[in-house]
Amino acid sequence: RPALRVALLGCGVVGSEVARLLTEQSDDLASRVGAPLELVGIAVRNVDAPRGAAVDRGLLTADAEGLVARADIVVELMGGIEPARSLLLAAIGHGASVVTANKALLAEDGPALYAAADAAGVDVYYEAAVAGAIPIVRPLRESLTGDRVRRVLGIVNGTTNYVLDRMATEGLDLDEAVKEAQQLGYAEADPTADVEGFDAAAKAAIIASLAFHTRVGLADVHREGITGVTAQDVVWAAQTGHAVKLLAIAEQTADGVAVRVHPALVPLDHPLAGVRGSFNAVFVEADAAGELMFYGRGAGGAPTASAVLGDVVSAARHRVLGGKSPEESRYADLPVLDPSRS
Ligand code: HSE
Repeated sequence: RPALRVALLGCGVVGSEVARLLTEQSDDLASRVGAPLELVGIAVRNVDAPRGAAVDRGLLTADAEGLVARADIVVELMGGIEPARSLLLAAIGHGASVVTANKALLAEDGPALYAAADAAGVDVYYEAAVAGAIPIVRPLRESLTGDRVRRVLGIVNGTTNYVLDRMATEGLDLDEAVKEAQQLGYAEADPTADVEGFDAAAKAAIIASLAFHTRVGLADVHREGITGVTAQDVVWAAQTGHAVKLLAIAEQTADGVAVRVHPALVPLDHPLAGVRGSFNAVFVEADAAGELMFYGRGAGGAPTASAVLGDVVSAARHRVLGGKSPEESRYADLPVLDPSRS
């Protein structure tokens, strides 16, 4: 089969990991897809900026439009609204599948992207937009879609969870802990998006849309960040048997779906209280399933790249095999077992 051409938009903490994994794991990925994946270019603002050794500089280009035009799968990891939105719409317009980790864009304008993709007969994949490596988009969109979700409680921002944890355990102040999170590659380019709760609010909007089969945008989310939380608050909370967590809460109420992000006191015996450092967790309460918790690394290059790569493989399989895995499609060629002969 001919190779599928993959274009990468953005080469930051996550993009450079995706480039590395696409190259290093190319044989495994090809066998899982049923066709090779060829990274045809990486669009960046400044081709001369320093990059990690894993990035093939020959792939870098400042011409994002030109790159998108020659790709089968476009992976957008640049963040922000523009030019990400125009580039993804251009990709969809010429029939490419798109993978994005851009929670801000999805929370602001997701429905326009999904509608364009529907019209073009392609898919938008965004597992990496919510809670990094944790599979939560597919479980909400697929596995739980026959159930009725009542409430979702999430720790969906690694930076603020790390900061609150460091305040509790080391007595650090907010700024010191944010600097550490930046050095570890957890924080957004502008960490205000983390500490003021914008990042968590965007993720809450995406979660609520999926959990309650409705359109929830960033403007529908009540938002309060962690800048008002003091070291003293964290200590007092611990003394009364609580952890301070920035929670994203989406619930079905008598008046409709309510979505909010704010610091909350979580009793120490609740599973979310034990979510430490930059880890994320999403706690789902559903009628038939009961309580479920999804836990893992929610920020950082490699964990987020894991979710991006999963989406790239899904998109590629869909283009090659109509969504079946190569193994499944091979079963079709196997002889049917005749029970009368056993
Ligand atoms: N800045 C985000 C966080 C990265 O800290 O969780 C993942 O979206």
